[in-house]
Amino acid sequence: MKFFIKTFGCQMNFNDSERIKGILHSLGYEQTNNYEEADLILINTCTIREKPDQKVYSYLGEYKKIKEKNPKALIGVCGCLAQRMGWELVKKAPVVDIMFSSYNIHQLPELIQQAQAGYKAIAILENPPEDEDKLWEYPTVRDNQYCAYVTVMKGCDKNCTYCVVPKTRGRQRSRSLESILSEVKYLIDDGVKEIHLLGQNVTAWGQDIGMHFSELLYRVAEVDGVERIRFTTGHPKDMDEKIAKAIGEIPQVCEHIHMPVQAGSNRILKLMDRGYTKEEYLEKIQMLREYKKGITFSTDVIVGFPTETEEDFEETIDLIKTVKFEQLFSFKFSPRPQTPAYSMEGQVEDEIKTARMERLLNVQKAILSEIAKGYEGTYQEVLIEGWENGKLIGRTRTNRWANVEGPKELLGKTVLVQVVKAHPYSLDCKLVSVLS
Ligand code: SAH
Ligand code: SF4
Ligand code: F3S
Repeated sequence: MKFFIKTFGCQMNFNDSERIKGILHSLGYEQTNNYEEADLILINTCTIREKPDQKVYSYLGEYKKIKEKNPKALIGVCGCLAQRMGWELVKKAPVVDIMFSSYNIHQLPELIQQAQAGYKAIAILENPPEDEDKLWEYPTVRDNQYCAYVTVMKGCDKNCTYCVVPKTRGRQRSRSLESILSEVKYLIDDGVKEIHLLGQNVTAWGQDIGMHFSELLYRVAEVDGVERIRFTTGHPKDMDEKIAKAIGEIPQVCEHIHMPVQAGSNRILKLMDRGYTKEEYLEKIQMLREYKKGITFSTDVIVGFPTETEEDFEETIDLIKTVKFEQLFSFKFSPRPQTPAYSMEGQVEDEIKTARMERLLNVQKAILSEIAKGYEGTYQEVLIEGWENGKLIGRTRTNRWANVEGPKELLGKTVLVQVVKAHPYSLDCKLVSVLS
């Protein structure tokens, strides 16, 4: 039996897919990259903006043809769109045999059985079930041997007025320290060097179980063999001095933090209900820079939030110029059903959103080439995680892709390199020495 899986959305969805692969392996399924030969096709969906929603329907249209050749083949939809739409999705796409969400991935074995028996296996729950922790019993199946994601919390308790995530992923639930550490140990034994902690707001980890995210960082760092630690996403509101201190004190925490700002105007930030001002955001950036020498940042920005004026947008540009982010992910505001911003007055025309987006990207382009220049000639630590076109590839601690000349035997090693040439998104480097 073969399965094919297509994943949209954020890293958490990717990690869910890695877990789904683990479950399917335990059931004897093998993965295929050709959906035409699959007995089970799964689409792990995202609904953060309108575009990913539409993509799902077009893929379903394509995958449907498989049933002509193999009538027993099953088609499943999981993830955030499934949770948001429920039965409505099946009405729109009757080809769907199986549907579940991030709440109940662990129920996949039963759902497959039901679908094989000829029933529609639709299990969209209003709330996460009590036994959702069963999910952790399945190991993930990863493409990357050396860097692994570890989901440390699910859901989100913030209520940003544009965002659908609290509706698709539910309330914030921190995974227990014990369960996280046991997965980290398992991964290290499996050859992993870099642990990437995941959650919609990882910095809020522990708040619901009487613990603090900084404790998690210290404890993960204590696990023998953990060479690097990253985490996504750090919400600025929960980024406090204790976390900054931990980041500074723990050598394995890399010099790169993703901290979405969304907007530079305090009026817009308030309308978004982000819980911080531009000044507070900048103070946190400053605090992190003081605690961790050489730290870099990436961010998310929403362009064209309802009522955003030229002046508001200029404040976003100002902020981008002030911080000089290494990476900027910008999105045109997309009104999501059942969120307050959907029906806010003052929706911005698409043309204006497009024009502002272009301006933002141009500003960022200039910043990127300035940052790139700064890398030339510097020495960097790179964890080699792949081999492409006869070159080693890996990331610097600051999360830049680096191409390194060297033998394939260096896969999985941390090396010291010197940057020969810097491009906006990658660095050409020469090998200096092997560190570990
Ligand atoms: N929890 C993270 C963000 C998760 S969603 C945080 O709060 O920072 C990932 C990104 O998608 C967000 O940072 C935001 O920039 C973007 N996004 C979310 N909802 C959106 C919407 N309705 N329209 C456009 N972009 C959106
Ligand atoms: Fe969405 Fe806000 Fe939660 Fe991030 S913090 S997932 S943007 S509601
Ligand atoms: Fe998308 Fe769900 Fe992630 S909506 S961004 S897959 S949490």
